[in-house]
Amino acid sequence: MPRPPIDDGVVLLTGASSGIGLELARLLAPRARVLALVARRKARLDALRDELARSAPRCKVLVLPADLSDRASTDAMLEALCREAPEVDVLINNAGFGDMDLFELADWPKTEQMLRLNIDALLYLTHRVLGGMVARRRGGVLNVSSGAGMAFFPGFAAYIGTKHFVTGFTEALRLDLSGTGVVVSQLCPGPVATEFEAVAGNFTGMSPPGIVELSAAACARQALRGFDRGRALIVPGALMWLVMWVAERTPRWVRRLVLAPFARALRHKRLSSKKPA
Ligand SMILES: NC(=O)c1ccc[n+]([C@@H]2O[C@H](COP(=O)([O-])OP(=O)(O)OC[C@H]3O[C@@H](n4cnc5c(N)ncnc54)[C@H](OP(=O)(O)O)[C@@H]3O)[C@@H](O)[C@H]2O)c1
Repeated sequence: MPRPPIDDGVVLLTGASSGIGLELARLLAPRARVLALVARRKARLDALRDELARSAPRCKVLVLPADLSDRASTDAMLEALCREAPEVDVLINNAGFGDMDLFELADWPKTEQMLRLNIDALLYLTHRVLGGMVARRRGGVLNVSSGAGMAFFPGFAAYIGTKHFVTGFTEALRLDLSGTGVVVSQLCPGPVATEFEAVAGNFTGMSPPGIVELSAAACARQALRGFDRGRALIVPGALMWLVMWVAERTPRWVRRLVLAPFARALRHKRLSSKKPA
């Protein structure tokens, strides 16, 4: 199994301004020759670059602000990257967000932006860099999916759909690329303490149980360890791994039956919540 060429390579990391992406950047900088940081909030990326300049002075850190849900902005970012580093060795598609709501009440512009970011941008960036990796017979793609890419539960229908896409796409792409020297892995975390929940708009007043929630730093550490080993599927956290292992082996009809009362309670809660319908 080839290893993703992180060491001394050119790494393109999306969603580097917070959460899992920020922690990945901290781990990647001491190893990469060039680390390109992408997100919309430039000030945060600038601060991260300054931090990495002190902790990993050998790495050239590029700040490439872009809205990846916008194709023109994505193309401008890729052009800027190409001027500095024409060949990407490793792509980490981490940028993404969720929207917690009953689907019929969800804000459509937010839903559409989620589809563009979680699906479209991930496909597009992969397509733009993959040809070069295959031609050079070396490369790595790490797609950040989610436990939601392997399961289903109430209140997150469109987000779950996007992550099922990422999981299916990544598995199939990995198969297609076997024997090419390009490593394709996916990270499927359970709950991680990041800005994700605030962005998703949690109206339930409940948070994930602390026992299954990982820190972003622990998630990033386990993600890179699995990617380095060329793992197909990385589920960080022993407990979450067990939960997903059991869930995957539980018949769908049992899962539907168990989740239905929670779904009805959630609907009731949402309709009586202050969030605008
Ligand atoms: N946290 C969890 O519980 C959890 C669980 C499973 C999977 N995940 C997945 O993990 C990934 C990282 O999320 P996180 O938990 O670290 O959340 P986060 O702290 O909210 O980070 C999301 C990152 O995506 C970037 N981003 C959002 N919209 C963007 C856009 N239009 N263009 C460019 N960048 C954009 C954000 O930067 P800007 O806002 O600066 O653009 C930020 O850097 C996501 O794919 C998420 O689905 C998270």
